[in-house]
Amino acid sequence: MKWIDDRFPFTKLMKEHVTEYYASKNFNIWYVFGVLAMVVLVIQLLTGIFLTMNYKPAAADAFASVEYIMRDVEFGWLIRYMHSTGASFFFIIVYLHMFRAMLYGSYKKPRELIWIIGMLIFFVLMAEAFAGYLLPWGQMSYWGAQVIISLFGAIPVVGDSIVELIRGDYSISDITLNRFFALHVIALPLALIGLVVVHIMALHEVGSNNPDGIEIKERKGPDGVPLDGVAFHPYHTSKDLVAIIVFLMIFSFVVFFAPDMGGYFLEHANFEPANTMATPEHIAPVWYFTPFYAILRAVPNKLWGAILMGAAVLLPMFLPWLDRSRVKSIRYRGWIYRVALTLFAISFVMLGWLGLKPAEDVYVVMARVFSVIYFGFFLLMPYYSTIDKTKPVPDRVVYHAK
Ligand code: HEM
Repeated sequence: MKWIDDRFPFTKLMKEHVTEYYASKNFNIWYVFGVLAMVVLVIQLLTGIFLTMNYKPAAADAFASVEYIMRDVEFGWLIRYMHSTGASFFFIIVYLHMFRAMLYGSYKKPRELIWIIGMLIFFVLMAEAFAGYLLPWGQMSYWGAQVIISLFGAIPVVGDSIVELIRGDYSISDITLNRFFALHVIALPLALIGLVVVHIMALHEVGSNNPDGIEIKERKGPDGVPLDGVAFHPYHTSKDLVAIIVFLMIFSFVVFFAPDMGGYFLEHANFEPANTMATPEHIAPVWYFTPFYAILRAVPNKLWGAILMGAAVLLPMFLPWLDRSRVKSIRYRGWIYRVALTLFAISFVMLGWLGLKPAEDVYVVMARVFSVIYFGFFLLMPYYSTIDKTKPVPDRVVYHAK
């Protein structure tokens, strides 16, 4: 080890980030999703490498090469189902990870940059999932991409040029598939890995928040260790391991018994090859995009729909400045924030459901109501977070040893 340490700061790095990284002892289940996101990232990278070995990024071959992976490649079915299931689980985990930050005010000072980098990760993740979905060249791959890419055409003056730039052609074609492949297998994963490294570096610079929203670094013992902190390893790693095992059990259950999840994880229309002459009856993106898709369709005007959809994705980025509350954690906030966050969560889930429904009658009305709640949560926050009555925050974190 000395030989290595003389040439590379291995022990120093391990101490700084693992054995002497002190995180609050009162972490709860909401704190496992960051680690789980890393586990899924690794699953996606590994299965992706093996898929790429047998996949062919050409319009004439893509669909058949996926069928070949499913039927002829040894364990190809397992690798593909792990990858497609992993995509959905990635979003489930990241949405819960983001919601945790909203529960405990983790985006507030001094963690604004962790949040902003997280939002950048989220944008890249969306682009990654969108590019990946075109690759099997099924009906929904083709028509889903058609709908989303054509949205850019609503931008005045430069819209058509942007659409052409994304497609690389006058319609979605072999050329589009090729460039989406390049983005999906190298450019975006590289960006994702880089951003995750920066995310963790920023986190370890300021230290983790906790369910009480108390800065544990403000109260240190004579040894310089925060009184409420415990070493990440072995104390948090052992708990994280339990979460990883439970996660892998749930993940395996889906992979082996319900890989298409009734059409939510793998849409039924995508089991047919892309047909440029026949539009599927209902075009809906995969579930993780549907909250934003519902906002798009709730607006009668295409340009405004696209603008509001973009705003819905971007708005959370500004949370550190929209939230004026003096306290971080929901435990010490008043009833207004509790009601607001509950309404927000309901509206997000409902928009997700509505995005899967046809844009007709009562569904459109509901999508409008929930869109108003969604935007209201963010835009009215500077006001309601100021007037909301807060409770006194204790000096030390609340922890009951069991
Ligand atoms: C590939 C995706 C991501 C990975 C691998 C990842 C990883 C992590 C890890 C390991 C932690 C520390 C453990 C924890 O607190 O759960 C963390 C904390 C955090 N992450 Fe992420 N993250 C990802 C995406 C995001 C996104 C999309 C956001 C928000 C937009 C975000 C915001 C945060 C915040 C605010 C913290 C600090 C939380 C606290 O200390 O209370 N992360 N992340």
